[in-house]
Amino acid sequence: MANTWNPLREEARVERTPDPCTIVIFGASGDLAKRKLVPALFNLARERWLPGGFSMVGYARSPLSDEALRAQMFDAVTEFSSSGPPTGAEWASFAAGLFYCQGGYDDPAGYERLKARLATIDAERGTGGNRIFYLSTPPSLIGPIMDALGASGLARSAPGSWTRIIIEKPIGYDLQTARELNAHVGRIFDEDQVYRIDHYRAKETVQNIVVMRFANGIFEPVWNRRYIDHVQITAAEVVGVEGRGGYYEGSGAVRDMLQNHLLQLLALVAMEPPTSLDANAIRDEAVKVARAIRPIPRDAVDAHAVRGQYTAGWVGGKIVPGYREEEGVSPTSTTETYAAVKLEIDNWRWAGVPFYLRSGKRMTKRAAEIAVQFRQVPMRLFTTTEADLQEPNLLVMKIQPDEGLTLRLAAKLPGHAIHLRSVNMEFRYGTSFGVRSSEAYERLLLDCMFGDATLFTRRDMVETGWALVMPILDHWAASGERNLHFYEAGTWGPEAADQLLEEGRTWRRL
Ligand code: BG6
Repeated sequence: MANTWNPLREEARVERTPDPCTIVIFGASGDLAKRKLVPALFNLARERWLPGGFSMVGYARSPLSDEALRAQMFDAVTEFSSSGPPTGAEWASFAAGLFYCQGGYDDPAGYERLKARLATIDAERGTGGNRIFYLSTPPSLIGPIMDALGASGLARSAPGSWTRIIIEKPIGYDLQTARELNAHVGRIFDEDQVYRIDHYRAKETVQNIVVMRFANGIFEPVWNRRYIDHVQITAAEVVGVEGRGGYYEGSGAVRDMLQNHLLQLLALVAMEPPTSLDANAIRDEAVKVARAIRPIPRDAVDAHAVRGQYTAGWVGGKIVPGYREEEGVSPTSTTETYAAVKLEIDNWRWAGVPFYLRSGKRMTKRAAEIAVQFRQVPMRLFTTTEADLQEPNLLVMKIQPDEGLTLRLAAKLPGHAIHLRSVNMEFRYGTSFGVRSSEAYERLLLDCMFGDATLFTRRDMVETGWALVMPILDHWAASGERNLHFYEAGTWGPEAADQLLEEGRTWRRL
């Protein structure tokens, strides 16, 4: 596997650009393309990461001219680019590489037109037959698009060039469908052509977990069951389902966030040091630790997992509807908008250390973080007053917002007597580096162009994640409303989740 670009290595400081290539976006008129993909490509172009001749073809069913596509994308970039709207010259140069091809997703004639269009672009813009197919479509279209790519010969690379495919989540609906989808992909593409996106993996602060753990000597000696009491991984959102009620009804917090994003975070925090920064060396370690997570017995799900659903409440000074009142949602829906799970890892490093994961929509605050709570000191020397209650050390990796690291320590209050207070040592990305963090999609698109799959999810990880959550999903599906806990929008989720944490532990109020 070519692993040519990786910022964790010193030589990454030498700026390079990928091979000239064309990216074909299926579903180019969709929300993801407009909000994330095209603004990310534009930002890469603006920062001169894209190769000369870089081109993008939007493929979709409705008729549209190149000019009309460019106008749509101009509006999208103006609204969503995190580095600000384009200047005239920047846009002219970027827009010259944008094209549109109309065709049905399973229509052979459409793929013949696409093939001809790509050949013209190769000839006119020097893209050398290098292609990325980005499937930004509803899951039901992934199979037909892959089949058509296979049948038209577009899935294979011409000699001396490369062809890759990027697939968005959800990868399947459960273990069975994920396996089927992966097998389907495998019949048409080789695994090293396949890039499965988990955008959490590409967040700047998530990449920093590996750097923090393995480029500093002070953490590794204490990164185990002797010193760590438990770990809390949180991804809380203030938003509701944002017009995606139809999708979310068939998903829920476990499928949408926990099975993929949160599990990736757990793997990075808990994995053994990889032997190198090669894509497979890191992904091998991540899968290894995910496989060591103790399976949850179907008859013990209630002791390991709690689900919730938001009701109407106050968010940001406004009253918002409950989940069951959202568009596209059944008034009797039992889909969970909040999930909390307790996991244990059966290996020498982590035996007996619980990992608590939670994610919810319509919570009090948008915050994603990993909090590593250390054990209490073995002997309390300093217990003079109630106020001196000594809190154990805590290391918080803040993923968003306020990206950075916080270490909680006990310190002496100034004065003649000895009194203790907790203080925080802070590292903030914004203040320390003062540069714009690149968006996850920028990093992922660029890595795919470079052929670096480190941040993409391998087939075995996807299936391991599904296998882990299946007992929870099956149990809930069979329980009707029985263990569904309602929580008011704008709160920290159902109180029932507090009972997952034993021995005096509590969820962090962020
Ligand atoms: C997506 C989920 O994968 O992640 C969404 O489908 C969720 O429901 C989103 O809102 C959260 O991503 P971020 O980057 O905003 O934390």
